[in-house]
Amino acid sequence: MYVCLCRGITDQDIQDAVANGSESFREVRDLLDLGTCCGRCVPEARALINSELAEIAARISVAA
Ligand code: FES
Repeated sequence: MYVCLCRGITDQDIQDAVANGSESFREVRDLLDLGTCCGRCVPEARALINSELAEIAARISVAA
């Protein structure tokens, strides 16, 4: 599913960026050029990134 129509960025692109080490909206934005045109995707992108980061944190705390 496309999250950022202006840049053609999908939810999978964002999930991959977080899985590969991006730790904030800013890092994903800088990596993918996410949300740098109209900006309408920013709230959804932020929510998705926060959800992915929380999931990773939960996995780490369970494993520890
Ligand atoms: S939809 Fe992402 S910058 Fe426009």
